[in-house]
Amino acid sequence: MHDRLVIAVPKGALFDDAAERLRAAGIDVPVDPGRRLTVTTPDGATEILLLRPTDVPAYVEFGAADCGIVGKDVLWESERHVSELADLHFGYCRLVVAARRIDRFHEGAPYPTFLRVATKFVRSAEAFFAERDRPVEIIPLHGSVELSPLVGLADVIVDLVATGNTLREHDMVVVDEIAESTARFVVNPVRFRAKYDVLINLVRRLEAGVPA
Ligand code: PRP
Repeated sequence: MHDRLVIAVPKGALFDDAAERLRAAGIDVPVDPGRRLTVTTPDGATEILLLRPTDVPAYVEFGAADCGIVGKDVLWESERHVSELADLHFGYCRLVVAARRIDRFHEGAPYPTFLRVATKFVRSAEAFFAERDRPVEIIPLHGSVELSPLVGLADVIVDLVATGNTLREHDMVVVDEIAESTARFVVNPVRFRAKYDVLINLVRRLEAGVPA
């Protein structure tokens, strides 16, 4: 039982690519786990925990999972102590500052003196504007962030952009790029030492699926 490898896998946007990469690495993750919270692979060697993406670092830090797959954007925001072993190069997106096109910040129109920034990415947004010595009021939100400038809650948002469709649909544009994110393979540092051979072998197989 203790030898079973426990892997934290994010549900949502990263799930399909994560599951496919794990299957390519020989771990038989179902294509559609439905509403299950855990899945044990048919060979009994691996248990998959199906988690909200932002919960993956906590499960790995506290050792409820030995390792996990998580977006770099989640790691920026989490203060969890996990070791990042590999960039898996899928789930590419950018963290950006975006605003309404008509405000013309992207064309150099000056920001208000005290900029109101709505975001789910509080730490990343604070760090970005602090580095530029710009006083801001961060307004933490939990979703549909692009609504906030449209109804006067915020001047700009800090949010992820993947296809760009969400911004386009709301007549918003990118003003600044903060960082690029992809999926990462993370481990609990103590488990990494205890299960070194299994985990090193897994990370090599996961990386073998990385396009050159
Ligand atoms: C993310 C992000 C944007 C959208 C960007 O939201 O917050 O809203 O994806 O993707 P796009 O550029 O491909 O349109 P997500 O769907 O993760 O959930 P949320 O709306 O609850 O934040």
